[in-house]
Amino acid sequence: MNDKINHGQLFDEQLSKEIKGLFYHVDEDPVLNRKRIFFDNAGGSLRLKKANDVFKNMDELPDCPEHSNYTARWLLSVQEKAYEDIRTIFNAKSGSIVTSLTASMVIFEMNRAIIENVPGTNVVTTALEHPSAYDSVVSYAEKTGKEVRVAKTNPVTGGVDVSEITKLVDKDTCLLSFIYASNISGAVLDVESIIKECRKIKPDLYIVVDSVQHTPHGALDLEKTPVDGINFAPYKFFGTRGFGVGLMSERAAMLPHNKLIAKSVDEWELGSPAPSQFASITEIVDYVCWIGAKFTDLENRRELYAEGMNRINLHERALMYRMLNGSDKAEGLRNIKGVNVYLDYEDLSTRDFIMAVGFDNIDCLKAVKEYEKRGVITFERIASSLYSKRMLDSFGIEGIVRVSPLHCHDVNDIDEFLKITKEISQLFND
Ligand SMILES: Cc1ncc(COP(=O)(O)O)c(C=O)c1O
Repeated sequence: MNDKINHGQLFDEQLSKEIKGLFYHVDEDPVLNRKRIFFDNAGGSLRLKKANDVFKNMDELPDCPEHSNYTARWLLSVQEKAYEDIRTIFNAKSGSIVTSLTASMVIFEMNRAIIENVPGTNVVTTALEHPSAYDSVVSYAEKTGKEVRVAKTNPVTGGVDVSEITKLVDKDTCLLSFIYASNISGAVLDVESIIKECRKIKPDLYIVVDSVQHTPHGALDLEKTPVDGINFAPYKFFGTRGFGVGLMSERAAMLPHNKLIAKSVDEWELGSPAPSQFASITEIVDYVCWIGAKFTDLENRRELYAEGMNRINLHERALMYRMLNGSDKAEGLRNIKGVNVYLDYEDLSTRDFIMAVGFDNIDCLKAVKEYEKRGVITFERIASSLYSKRMLDSFGIEGIVRVSPLHCHDVNDIDEFLKITKEISQLFND
């Protein structure tokens, strides 16, 4: 395999340092006032300072964006700019934006509108889904008397094969709802092929993609992957909690949904969302474009954004390669005695930076505690949790320590983590 593709490419040292400085609390826990390495970014990511600052500052303003005074109109312009930036993130020229308190609320509403209103006798999803997609499919399929078909996972890749999905789709499929990348294994599904192959079976198939996990790690592109619904969660994407963002295709946006009667049929916004949340999204897009501009002379905002996400992806892949294989500074996870890497698929270009780790002689809960004692934050994904059970069962795994760094980390963070991992393993192997 081409080395650059599989090994990724680190930001240079200067840029890496600059990026770290743009995020809050990368190296310390401000509550405990001590050093730490925060590797639980799939749970909620480290915050971009500007995205948080603008949120805090703008929320001081009482003005209502729909009113006519100067500052109110300014807030409206901030919101309108962010709507454009959401389109930049998705590379979407049409469709309706939908926001809510969480990404789960967004996907529940998207799946509900389709399942309740589009003809068909079955709904297809996968065993790898977050409960927000899976449970919305099951709930509304049950309500409308539709069959639920669940595609199997692949324990080698950590994902779902295209053929496992296509074999469940037929002319009577009302909706295909699947995850872009797994928040347990990090596997990125072959979204382009899934869409292409499924629409060969049913050309007008409705498709919803949960891209909450992938959005912070790679560029989305609805021009290449046209779907009817897609979403992300700003708090996992360098931003703030309390917001979920989605986009519906033109045809899906017209389906019956909750709305004020006087508003247009494709309007999905309900009530008065906080302008500060929108301002925060513009800061995130500005930041990714700033990275992009370091690597290209292009000036178009979408092209800069795509380049920035591509560079983030390559940097994370290089960190992932180092975490797995080590360096002259520290042994890699693949080589530390007593440590297992689950779902360790060779082709890192099909992975977001999530590692599923286990120890021979300690269970996951204990391992997470041992990491915390040493200033490293990870998270246990265990079969007793409703957020992990179906996915882990599908792989035949009881539990993992999920390790999820972010692009604002550098090689020193990875090396330190590896040394601590070895220390924990040795402690319980001796
Ligand atoms: C893949 C995936 N989808 C959806 C969600 C739900 O996001 P939210 O917490 O905003 O509802 C999560 C959250 O962990 C997730 O990882």
